[in-house]
Parts: sequence; C-alpha cells; structure tokens
Amino acid sequence: MTSAKTNDRPWLGYGLGLRKTHYASILAEEHTVDWFELLTENYLVPGGKPLYYLDQISERYPTVMHGVSLSIGSVDPLDWDYLAQVKTLAERTDAQWISDHLCWTGVGGINAHDLLPLPYTEEALEHVAQRVRQVQDFLGQRILLENPSTYIEFNHSALCEWEFLAALSELSDCLLLFDVNNLYVNAFNHGFNPIDYLDALPKDRVWQIHLAGHSDYGHYLIDTHDHAIADPVFALYQETVKRFGPVSVMIERDDNIPSFEQMCQELDHVRELTREAA
Ligand SMILES: [Fe+2]
Repeated sequence: MTSAKTNDRPWLGYGLGLRKTHYASILAEEHTVDWFELLTENYLVPGGKPLYYLDQISERYPTVMHGVSLSIGSVDPLDWDYLAQVKTLAERTDAQWISDHLCWTGVGGINAHDLLPLPYTEEALEHVAQRVRQVQDFLGQRILLENPSTYIEFNHSALCEWEFLAALSELSDCLLLFDVNNLYVNAFNHGFNPIDYLDALPKDRVWQIHLAGHSDYGHYLIDTHDHAIADPVFALYQETVKRFGPVSVMIERDDNIPSFEQMCQELDHVRELTREAA
C-alpha cells in the first residue's frame, strides 16, 4: 500500500531528484541520500535504459513520482490513458506518492509545454477540486499538488495563492508538495510576504518539500533549477521547518547539473540547516 493512502505523514528523510547523469553513481557509490524523486514522464516509454536503472534504484531506495502532464487546471478532459500509465509506473516502482503541479499546460488539445498559472477564483477552485477528486478516485490514493512559480497574476483572482491551495486541499482532500523556492520567487515577483503564506498553509497536508535554485534578473526572478539553492531560500526553508516539523525534503536540479558527489554535499547542508532549525 502506498503511503498516500494513509493519514499519517511519512518521513522519508533527505532526497534528490533522480537524474540520468547520476544513475551509475547512485548504484555504485556509498552515499547518504535517503530517497529519490523520479520525473514521471521520463519513465513512461517501455524498455530502455531509464527503466533499467529505475528498477534497480527503486528496489534499493524509496521513490516518489513527480509529473508535469496532469494539467489539472485545464478545461480539456482529463487524459485517462496518461493516468493509466502513471498508475502502472507507481505500482512498478512502489512509489510512496504521486505529485504534479497546480497549473494547466494546454487547452483545445494544444500542449503549451509550460506550467501555466490559474486565476484564483471560486469557479476555478470548484473546477480543479472536482478534477482532483476524479484523479484520486482513479489512482486509488491522494495526490500531492505543488505550488507553482508564476510570473503573472490575474486581475479577477478573488483569492490569494495560499488561500486557493488551502481551500483546494480541504475540498478535494489532496496533499501538498511545497516548493520553498517557488514561494520565494513568487513573493519577490508579486510583492507579498512569504511568511504570511507559510502561516496560512495547512501544515498537516504538506508531505514533501522541494528546494531549488533560481535566476535573478534584478527586478524579477525565474525558477530555472540551474543554480545552487540561494541563501534567502535556505532561510525560508528554516522558517518552514520551525512551523511544519519534519517534512521529507529534496533538491531539484535540472540544468548545469553538478556531480552526484556535489549534490550530496548540498543535501548535507540541508541536513545541517534542518537540525539547526528544529
Ligand atoms: Fe518544484
């Protein structure tokens, strides 16, 4: 049984995003990484090297699945073929849980290949909550939705992002993946206090934390995952630990990917900061 079917938040420890440049090191070297997050879409094609390595890694370490194709906010019908593949992969890897983003990625059958923001209205809330319930019924477990990084806001939004997430998790009984860097980026770009956001999130529903680096363009930030984690993001993470207690935490790195050893060192720093804050 996967953990997202239970009520208690599991503690997986300190993890890394699974990247193909690290496959061999993960299996060959002694290291202290407790768990790995796999990018769902990289493992949906049958056979080949990715699944060859994933089978071995998921036998030795707990894994969780993180997708980008759910498009939970779209008005297009849900993609049941995709969801069937997700379910099969979750069974194959015995994934602890399945996550995606609070966003939409296309409409009218056109894929924008981007995680697009939603207007935070009552209508959108009802729409997304109803789709989350359908997805959870199909998968037989609750899903985690991640707070997105955004660069625009809608004039007709009636709720703040944190109010929308809190209401959505109540209405649909879903869980949350809290990305600390996304909060930092959004707070900077849209000019709100990230501590207000932290204080408003339903703590028991946050089952996973993402840490990542961003790019600073002076008057705006972009969530690029190609830098080390910035100090103000670490500071915000420590504020999170003080409020939320232990939540399974991991580093996402998608570009300029350092060696596995360097990623392990950055993860050790997360360990130290967590202990300090707790
Ligand atoms: Fe993230």
